[in-house]
Amino acid sequence: MAVDQDTQHMLQTEPAPDDLDLSWMESTGERGFWAKPGRRGLTLEEINQGSYGNPPEFSENMTMAPRGAAPRSGVPRIGYHVREKSDIWSQNAAMLYEEAVQRQWSSATDIPWDELQPLPDHVERAYSQFCTFLTEVEFIAGDTPSQWLPQISNEHYEVKLFLASQVMDEARHLDVFRKRALANGGGLMSGGPGTGLRAIISARDFSEMSAIMHIIGEGFIQSLFRSGELLSNSEAEKRMFRLAAQDESRHVSFGVMHMKHMLETEPERREEIHSYLDSGEKIFAGTGVSASGGSVESLGILLGGGVKHMDEGLKKLLAIRKRQVNEYMHRLEVAGLGDRRERMTSAFSPMLNPA
Ligand SMILES: [Fe+2]
Ligand SMILES: [Fe+2]
Repeated sequence: MAVDQDTQHMLQTEPAPDDLDLSWMESTGERGFWAKPGRRGLTLEEINQGSYGNPPEFSENMTMAPRGAAPRSGVPRIGYHVREKSDIWSQNAAMLYEEAVQRQWSSATDIPWDELQPLPDHVERAYSQFCTFLTEVEFIAGDTPSQWLPQISNEHYEVKLFLASQVMDEARHLDVFRKRALANGGGLMSGGPGTGLRAIISARDFSEMSAIMHIIGEGFIQSLFRSGELLSNSEAEKRMFRLAAQDESRHVSFGVMHMKHMLETEPERREEIHSYLDSGEKIFAGTGVSASGGSVESLGILLGGGVKHMDEGLKKLLAIRKRQVNEYMHRLEVAGLGDRRERMTSAFSPMLNPA
């Protein structure tokens, strides 16, 4: 049998027995753990013991070495420039990651697509426009966390795992809305102006990005998905919004707990965070969920049940907007930013329920 060139090279460079080196056996992190599965299996909580469970406040590690591994000299730096724990940390990141892995679903098989009902043409066009808008939103929600992954230290791996799970969730969301647009006689409609979405992906600071994306953007989207029954004509659409809302609640929760951690550990950043929310709220009030690419009109048609009943639909949309604003305020209170109530953009503040 002929030996190919690669195999020949490998055989030629195989070290002789005298050259073998077993010194790596002495180079270990902490040893002697027998992590045992807990109530939800062998989760990150169970393995985060001893030195493995101590994320540093500031990571000195610029290499690929995982937290708890023995350091090795002479290895290249990777360029993990976001090294401060408080800049990215969220207490619930590990738990949210585990939940994300356990609750993955398939847009191909978990949505009862056969239940879709034929709709009047103008209603189907409104659905198509709404789904086109949502598909754009979901692209940004996936692209943005993926930009941050290669910047965060491996020693803060829980946050990286959570962000990776968000990227997967958003991939599924963009595909489920794209599928809905194409599964009932419609297609994609026109893309939106994208101003609000551009602000999310352009944020230069992690907490700025998280405040605008997780808390404002995804918070508003989650409140909208929670009202999905009103936007559904079939069990397929209800299931689509219910499953997407379940995923969004993790993304929003990460952002809320990140803001809480950051405000507790870096209280001097409070005004800076308000400034991000000032611009984020204005963008979302002006060109965000409500006014992007015909979404107001398409939502008015869907909620009213047709072009003729758009007025009624727009009243329902206003009720959803109130829900969005009040749920947003509640999240800010949980994060420790209750003083936002007095500073919220005038486009939202009249909708706030009394404290
Ligand atoms: Fe999403
Ligand atoms: Fe999301």
